[in-house]
This record gives sequence, C-alpha cells and structure tokens, in this order.
Amino acid sequence: MKGVILAGGAGSRLHPLTTVFNKHLLPVGRYPMIYWPILKLRETGIKDILIVTNNEHLRSFIKILGQGEELEVKLHYRIQSKERAGIGDALLEAKEFIQQGKFIVLLGDNLFEDSLTSYLNAFRNQKEGARVILKEVEDPRRYGVPHLDKVNSKILSITEKPNIPMSTYCVTGIYMYDHQVFDFIEKTTPSSRNELEITDVNNMYIENNLLEYDIFMGWWIDAGTHESLYKANQLVFERQIEEGGH
Ligand code: DAU
Repeated sequence: MKGVILAGGAGSRLHPLTTVFNKHLLPVGRYPMIYWPILKLRETGIKDILIVTNNEHLRSFIKILGQGEELEVKLHYRIQSKERAGIGDALLEAKEFIQQGKFIVLLGDNLFEDSLTSYLNAFRNQKEGARVILKEVEDPRRYGVPHLDKVNSKILSITEKPNIPMSTYCVTGIYMYDHQVFDFIEKTTPSSRNELEITDVNNMYIENNLLEYDIFMGWWIDAGTHESLYKANQLVFERQIEEGGH
C-alpha cells in the first residue's frame, strides 16, 4: 500500500510562525513536524510516500528530507497548484502517484500515538470503500464531526466545523481510501471557505454505504494552532522520555 501526506495549506492559525516557514516544518520534539507522519507510515511498512505541498516550500522539504534516504523511505513530491484550495484539492494531486488500489492519507499536522497497523489491517479486509478514524475530543466544533449510530457501528453523516456538534467525536486526519475517492473529489464543489472539503468526499462514501470507522485509542492531536502545537511538543517529549530518549 502507498501513503500520502498532505502538507500544503497556509497555516494561518499559526501566524506569525508560518509567515516564512511551512507549518509542517515547525519543530515538534526534536524533529520537524513532517517527520512524525512519515515515521508512522514507516512503522506499518509503508515506504512509498507522496508529500503534497505548495510551490513556495517545496525546496525546504527537499532540503530537509531529500528522497527519504535518512528515514529509509522513498519520498515523492507534488505541488498543490491551487494554494489553499482544500484537502480534497490537495489529494487530487495524488491520483497519478496512486494509480490503483487502496491507500492511506495523513494530514501532515496530525500527531498521534497508536500504531496504524491494526487500522490498516481492518481496511485491507474491507472489500471496498473508505475508512476513517474517530477520536473523542473536548471541543468537536473545530473539526469534522460524525453523527453516529453506535449500535450498528455506522456514521450517518459528517458535518465540518458545526456550531452544534452531533457527537463528542471528531474525524481525525487519518483517512483510508480506495480509488473511487478521486471520482468523488471531482464531484465536489468549493465550500463557503472556498475549499474542496474532505468531509464532502467522506459524505459521498456514506451515501453509498461505503464508509467504515474505528475509534482511535491513544492520544491524537491536530497541531494546527499555537496551543495544540505546544501540547504536541509536550506529548512527544514525554513519550521520548518514557522511551529512554529515543
Ligand atoms: O485534523 C482533523 C481535521 O482536519 C478534520 O476533523 C476536518 O474534517 C478536516 O477538514 C481538517 O480540518 P482543518 O481545518 O484542521 O484543516 P486544515 O486547513 O488545517 O488542513 C489540514 C492539513 O491539510 C494541513 O496540515 C495541510 C493540508 N492542506 C490543507 C489545505 C486547506 C493542504 O495540503 N492543502 C490545503 O489546501
């Protein structure tokens, strides 16, 4: 299976830190943020990885990561031609790289504890469709929020950044898709914030009865704000200490 990491966007919630730097190159623990999703994919055996970023920062990514030699992965790069056009738009850039079959997508600003292996195995056993990972959070209004039918283990719908959330869960930036995702993205239209929303794509999978989910067990954080970036650093440093500094 191949992996895709989305690392474009403007990082506007982290200004002025992101005025010059790409959000995914800011430090988390002893590495730039982008190392963590790469290491999480490598842990599952996924080594063929596409990074989608913007034109302005591509050179910095290549300078830091090269072709992935140091991390023992094979990195490919692709520029999101329309900057900030949304997660759906960034993912369209992966169509040629994926070619066929199932794959996993990580949002480059999501940091988390669990190994992805068991979730990927569940997805491998799924005949077709997509799989998302949910996490219970204190304030779901910042995220895509699922309306859940827990009895039947089904997501009924997902709402992006709702004022009144339908559950205490959020959809994390860990997505597993089959090749249909590209057709679904092409059917979406820009939202009120002028982005192709991944939530619209996931809702299309729901309408076709093709979306499954798991609940994430360990800690998970979207490091896209000053406060959550600080928290991510704390969590990563605590883990490094627990693991004897490695
Ligand atoms: O973190 C989980 C949440 O991520 C989900 O619950 C939401 O449903 C999903 O829409 C997303 O929400 P955010 O508002 O946090 O997304 P953000 O704009 O911060 O973008 C997340 C990542 O996607 C970011 O690390 C870079 C990448 N991205 C984003 C945009 C808008 C791109 O590569 N290109 C883009 O145009």
